[in-house]
Amino acid sequence: MTFEEIRRVVGDTPYLGIDEGWELYSHILKAKPQACLELGHAHGVSSIYIAGALDQAGDGYLDSVDLESSAARTPNIEMLLDGSGLEPRVSIHRQKNSYTWFLKEKIEQQSQNGVCAPCYDFCFIDGPKNWTIDGLAFFLVDKLLRPGGWILFDDYGWAHGKHAGREATDGISIRTLSENEITQPHIEHIFKLLVMQHPDYSNFVLQDGWWAWAQKVADGHKTLIESQKLMDKAGKLRVS
Ligand SMILES: C[S@@+](CC[C@H](N)C(=O)[O-])C[C@H]1O[C@@H](n2cnc3c(N)ncnc32)[C@H](O)[C@@H]1O
Repeated sequence: MTFEEIRRVVGDTPYLGIDEGWELYSHILKAKPQACLELGHAHGVSSIYIAGALDQAGDGYLDSVDLESSAARTPNIEMLLDGSGLEPRVSIHRQKNSYTWFLKEKIEQQSQNGVCAPCYDFCFIDGPKNWTIDGLAFFLVDKLLRPGGWILFDDYGWAHGKHAGREATDGISIRTLSENEITQPHIEHIFKLLVMQHPDYSNFVLQDGWWAWAQKVADGHKTLIESQKLMDKAGKLRVS
């Protein structure tokens, strides 16, 4: 499916914007992942970009996960996919509590004799932006990501303080959080403290201060220098 055809399918549906859609589409066409995972699909816009790119590349499928409550969205992902021709490429999964439970079940399925066989080449994490949930999600996804695969986090600079007036968002009770937990960006901390320090991740890119990419490298291929570099889109060093 061409980018223009995808644009017609998603129309003005939130949340992913056209520029991010293009980045996602281009990445899939370049990296050609066979198996993709999306954590947090909302109305399904990012899923359509991923599935449309897989279709254009001629191969691949997407497991797309959200909460049960996402079924009540208008449109929901089923409505967006309906008639697009992309339906066979997308498996929709919904969890009562969290995508971390989907990941637990997937690890169980993939495990034999105490070893988990990785099965994904790309994972887009776009859920609650929370240290506890998404920090765990990273380590669970790592077990399922094949060497060479990419992981992408949305909302690098987002903080729970954005919803300080609300009782809860995505099941997280804002009132129970400390001042630091409310004001600090959880995804940035997950990326810098968990992903960048992980021995198997490299090629870190921060795009427009909001999207953080990392590639899983083959065991032992990462150097100390690599582990300290976070590049921006133009290849400039951001953090060392
Ligand atoms: C910003 S929206 C995703 C937008 C979508 N990726 C796009 O770009 O079109 C975040 C989604 O994450 C889901 N979500 C939040 N916490 C979750 C959790 N613990 N498990 C599963 N889904 C979760 C929400 O229900 C919501 O639909």
